[in-house]
Formats: sequence, C-alpha cells, structure tokens
Amino acid sequence: MSIDVAVIPAAGRGTRMRPATRVVPKALITVVDRPQIQYSVEEAARAGAKEAIIVVDLDAGHLVAQHFSLEGPLPTLEDMVVRPVVQEEALGLGHAVNEAAHMVGDRSFFCLLSDNIVRPGEDVLSEMAVGSDDGSVSVMCLRELTDEFLSKYGVVVPSSDVNDGYLDLAGAVEKPGAKDAPSRLGLVGRYLFTPEVFSILDKTVPGVGGEIQLTDAINALGAAGRLRGYVAETDLLDVGTPAGLVEATVALGADLS
Ligand code: UTP
Repeated sequence: MSIDVAVIPAAGRGTRMRPATRVVPKALITVVDRPQIQYSVEEAARAGAKEAIIVVDLDAGHLVAQHFSLEGPLPTLEDMVVRPVVQEEALGLGHAVNEAAHMVGDRSFFCLLSDNIVRPGEDVLSEMAVGSDDGSVSVMCLRELTDEFLSKYGVVVPSSDVNDGYLDLAGAVEKPGAKDAPSRLGLVGRYLFTPEVFSILDKTVPGVGGEIQLTDAINALGAAGRLRGYVAETDLLDVGTPAGLVEATVALGADLS
C-alpha cells in the first residue's frame, strides 16, 4: 500500500546533546552537510510520502520550519510539502505523535525519529508498507539489540517466528533492560501506524518517566492483534548522542567521498 504522509516528532529537549541544544533544536544539528531532520524527510520522500508533518517545540520550531521553506523548497525535496505543528510542552513521544492527529486524519502514516538516520539510498519504510496488509496492521521497524541497548530502547514481545523479515507482535515494553527483556528485538525509530493509534493515544496515561509513551500505545495495538514487526537488515545511525554523532558523521562522510 502507498503511504503519503510522514510524522516526524522533533520537540524533545535533546538533553543528551547539551550544550549544543541549549538554543539550536536537536533536529537542526548538522550531520555532514545537512541537519539531521532533513535525512528523515528525504527518507520519507524516497518511500513515496508527499507530506511531512514535523512536531516542533514552541521556542525553536520556527527555525525547523524555516529550514525547509526559506528561499523555496530544497532541491532534494521539491515534491514534498513540509508542515510544522507545535507541541507546547514536552509531555512525551506519544503525546508528540498525537499532536499531528488532526493533520493526518484517517490515513495510515509513517513516523520517523530523526535522531536515527537511515543511510541515503536505503529504504526500510517501503518494506514496512509491504507488511501492512493494505493498511490493516501497524508495522514496527526492529533491530536485534545487544545487552547494553535493551535498557535504552523499547523492546517487543514476538508472537510468531520471523518469516521473510516479518513477524507478528503481541506488544512492547519501554526500556526493559537485559534481565526483563521479552526479546532482543528493539524499536529503532521507524513506525507505520494505522490511524487507530490516535484513539489509543487519546486514552494513554503517562507511563515511564511521567511521559505519554508511544511504546504503551504500541503495546495496546499488539494486545488488539494488529501489530507486526519488520526486522531491518541495515543499521540505523544514532545521532542522538555525541559519540553516535561522531560515528554517523564518519560513516555518512565516507559515503559522500
Ligand atoms: P528522545 O527520547 O530521544 O528525547 O525522544 P529527546 O528529548 O529528543 O533527547 P534526550 O533524551 O533528552 O537527549 C525521541 C524523539 O521524540 C521526540 C524527540 O524530539 C525525538 O525525536 N519527542 C520526545 C518529542 O517530540 N516530544 C516529546 O515530548 C518527547
């Protein structure tokens, strides 16, 4: 099925990137020659999206919007409409996604976290769309995690074996740690949601860290039997920490030269 809209939450505080993010939003931190969020918008465009809704904060959101609009569209994004929506308070990733509900309406949509970069040229979103049964299930992009990362990512509960890269999921747990992890398959910041997720988020109460967690809504989709995983073959580059940013810069810089 073809998905024409992507939601990119970018209103978090970016505390792991302080002091760089005291004024500049994390989304605008440069990786090689463009801000990290541009990679995500370009990735969504590669998968056929025509509209990117970026969830921004009140203070610096206009800067993110300006990046895409000043002097006309960017050459790599001529067919993409980029629209901001403000999340007034950083109440959590689930809350941020729900701020886009009125703009997405009754469409299935991609959701991308731009602090994980998929290398230009690669396209996991289209593979996820293939697994969505024409929009009847939500599809999560997964990677096998080492022990260290089981306490840093949401981890899923499989309910089937992996078949051609896809599997059924019964739910997900936010940052369980190695001891309590239900599997090694982690949520790595690429999602395809059916619009059902918005009605679930409307009812989701604050969870871990007092934030409205997207993982709790994903868990509810699993409990309803409408959740699938796609195990990506490619590594995503995490630019949400200083060490990850250095690694990603080297990797993406080498692709360019
Ligand atoms: P993170 O958990 O990486 O948080 O959010 P963060 O605030 O960006 O960074 P740290 O952990 O403080 O360093 C994952 C994604 O969700 C967005 C963030 O912008 C990031 O893309 N987010 C998070 C929001 O848009 N709003 C929120 O309230 C929370």
